[in-house]
Amino acid sequence: MTRRKFVCGNWKMHKTIAEAVQLVRELRDKTAGASAQVAVAPPFTALSAVKQAVAGSAIQLFAQNCHFEKQGAFTGEVSPAMVKDAGCDGVILGHSERRQSFGETDELVAKKLRAALAEGLHPIVCVGETLQEREAGRTWEVVSRQVRGALGGLDAATLQRITLAYEPVWAIGTGRNATSAQAQEVHAQIRGLLRDLGGQPVANAIRIQYGGSVKPDNAAELLSQPDVDGALVGGASLKAGDFSAIVSAAK
Ligand code: PGA
Repeated sequence: MTRRKFVCGNWKMHKTIAEAVQLVRELRDKTAGASAQVAVAPPFTALSAVKQAVAGSAIQLFAQNCHFEKQGAFTGEVSPAMVKDAGCDGVILGHSERRQSFGETDELVAKKLRAALAEGLHPIVCVGETLQEREAGRTWEVVSRQVRGALGGLDAATLQRITLAYEPVWAIGTGRNATSAQAQEVHAQIRGLLRDLGGQPVANAIRIQYGGSVKPDNAAELLSQPDVDGALVGGASLKAGDFSAIVSAAK
């Protein structure tokens, strides 16, 4: 079973509208003809402008978060319908920065996931342990709880619409990536859990991205692992040259 690699740039709280358009214009040229699926996730304010700038290219547009309600009195929030309306193909959910800085729980991520799926969005669900959890030997306990918490109860057809991102918290923005063996170990465990949740075809189909200090010089090694199906890239996605080099490594 070959899964098409999927590389998504998570721009976090970076880039004005003009800067975002400039970056994605460069990416259009540099990633043209890539064999991997490519997406960028700009801040909400730049989504519409970036949508126009990627028109006619293969670059997909993702939001970095959404609420679970369609509309209502939720000051400061953006609904899945609004994300869709802005032109997004998908949405990143449960990023560790959302979990750590904004109190997102497994339960909340599960609600957001269902709402995003109902809107026809392609969700990337992020999971990953902290350094303290890893050092306490609790990596799989935490990651499996996060995967079950978000995906549990969904039927096989729905599960296949989801991408997972394994992002060890200690590797995010630190320059200290997981080794390819560390990544592969957890990715293989996640795939085993996906088999329990949805059966072998689902486990074979779902892409599991690795995230956490992915750079041009470590991407090929990480992406060569059998269960690493792409990358969720933060810092290195802010530079067209670095991001496109990672996309090229995803074969
Ligand atoms: P990083 O971020 O590549 O800067 O480590 C990854 C992420 O947060 O998705």
